[in-house]
Amino acid sequence: MITSKATAPKALSHIPRHLLPSTTATSRFHPVPSTPSQPSQRRTLATVQDGPPPKRTHFGGLQDQDRIFQNLYGHHGADLKSAMKYGDWYKTKEIILKGHEWLISEIKASGLRGRGGAGFPSGMKWSFMNFKDWDKDTKPRYLVVNADEGEPGTCKDREIMRKDPHKLIEGCLVAGRAMNCSAAYIYIRGEFYHEATVLQRAIQEAYKEGLIGKNACGSGYDFDVYIHRGMGAYVCGEETSLIESLEGKPGKPRLKPPFPAAVGLFGCPSTVANVETVAVAPTIVRRGASWFNSFGRERNAGTKLFCISGHVNNPCTVEEEMSISLQELIEKHAGGVRGGWDNLKAVIPGGSSTPILPKGTCDTQLMDFDALKDSQSGLGTAAVIVMDKSTDVVRAISRLASFYKHESCGQCTPCREGSKWTEQIMQRFERGQAREREIDMLQELTKQVEGHTICALGEAFAWPLQGLVRHFRPELEARVRDYAGKNGGEARAGGWSHDAQKKGMLISPGQ
Ligand SMILES: Cc1cc2nc3c(=O)[nH]c(=O)nc-3n(C[C@H](O)[C@H](O)[C@H](O)COP(=O)(O)O)c2cc1C
Ligand code: SF4
Repeated sequence: MITSKATAPKALSHIPRHLLPSTTATSRFHPVPSTPSQPSQRRTLATVQDGPPPKRTHFGGLQDQDRIFQNLYGHHGADLKSAMKYGDWYKTKEIILKGHEWLISEIKASGLRGRGGAGFPSGMKWSFMNFKDWDKDTKPRYLVVNADEGEPGTCKDREIMRKDPHKLIEGCLVAGRAMNCSAAYIYIRGEFYHEATVLQRAIQEAYKEGLIGKNACGSGYDFDVYIHRGMGAYVCGEETSLIESLEGKPGKPRLKPPFPAAVGLFGCPSTVANVETVAVAPTIVRRGASWFNSFGRERNAGTKLFCISGHVNNPCTVEEEMSISLQELIEKHAGGVRGGWDNLKAVIPGGSSTPILPKGTCDTQLMDFDALKDSQSGLGTAAVIVMDKSTDVVRAISRLASFYKHESCGQCTPCREGSKWTEQIMQRFERGQAREREIDMLQELTKQVEGHTICALGEAFAWPLQGLVRHFRPELEARVRDYAGKNGGEARAGGWSHDAQKKGMLISPGQ
């Protein structure tokens, strides 16, 4: 039986709008205005409802057809033919011909935020390249792809370059066109020898087929792609340090301003963007901004590569919907925490520089930029490091303190000296050879570093320590008490034993 409800939309579409009953009634059939967070939808009688559609409360469960990285697990080759079979380089010429304004507006509308750690809106960042009278500037313009991937726990960009290199190369062309760049430099970590080889082979294939180079894809646009292998220093992942290194200088961050969009690589307008950010761009513009924006919570749109490591049964890199719950992410894709969820102690949610979260917070944590910021941590590179109850968190964070001390480039006093002090303090806390008041000193020291350095490595070493003090203070205190119990008293400042002065080992002023 055909119901009146089912036939109505067709019938209505034949009636001129001015003949429809009342203005309030007709307005229901107008398309809902599109905003970056709300994909436009055309309502019919069958779908009509009052008010906005109900807010989604559950995220995750990304379908295979919505995965951007179709070859994350290497099920097909990394060659051009295989890549084309899975949708890469499809109608790229048409995309390029739409021009920079359309490309930038699509990326803006998609809600894409940088995947390199800071989460800055990519459309806005890329638009800084097309400043007033940019076309009167005769200098070349560059897209610099950050393939340094130095953040401990992160293993996503290497997977893209190893298995899906054409996504990155096509991304270079699309992002490069959006910013009116003449070339892309992919700065790849030196240790990624295999990835650089696969990527170089893919670049050569793309050149041979006319997809990049002169008249890329037959669009009339000239665009080159180069690879530059770095030497594997963590700080070279910082964008201005990366530029210095690319120019052949020691990788030490530059003061900003000027920002790279004004004075970047070789003094020319440049933008540094992460591998994942660039590689998702072609699929976004091909499938539409509203498709990408339909995933994740407002302001946290899209799909995202998560790297799950540590005490899980099946460590992996997986593409999931942004805003998925941490527990679902770990249990669905990484086989759960070793010994079950109740055996969880803590999680570092976004790579080593993001503050650690205790189990209580992890129970309800959503994995996106804003939710993790609300929990006083960060999404960072979405490198989820899982720690079960066997973990010595003091030792784990102390190890990170040593890493950051080693990687400090030494230009700024707070970072150079602070990272050394915190390493020393943490090594003493590992043994319990510290005083309880040093916990507050540690916290205060990190607060003095934050915001007082040239680059964000200062924050990167401060935040894990702040997370430790915030959530695991009792563990630090217990270490001190244990040491005091075993050694007949709390250690003196600097780690000296409580009776060092009596034994003549410690001479205080005036003695
Ligand atoms: C010490 C330090 C290391 C960094 N390492 C990386 C890295 O390895 N890869 C990366 O993409 N971004 C890294 N970043 C962030 C970059 O400076 C930059 O924000 C990012 O590449 C921008 O790309 P996006 O806009 O696509 O996120 C690092 C930042 C700092 C402060
Ligand atoms: S914050 Fe540290 S790594 Fe960054 S420029 Fe200063 S000293 Fe170098």
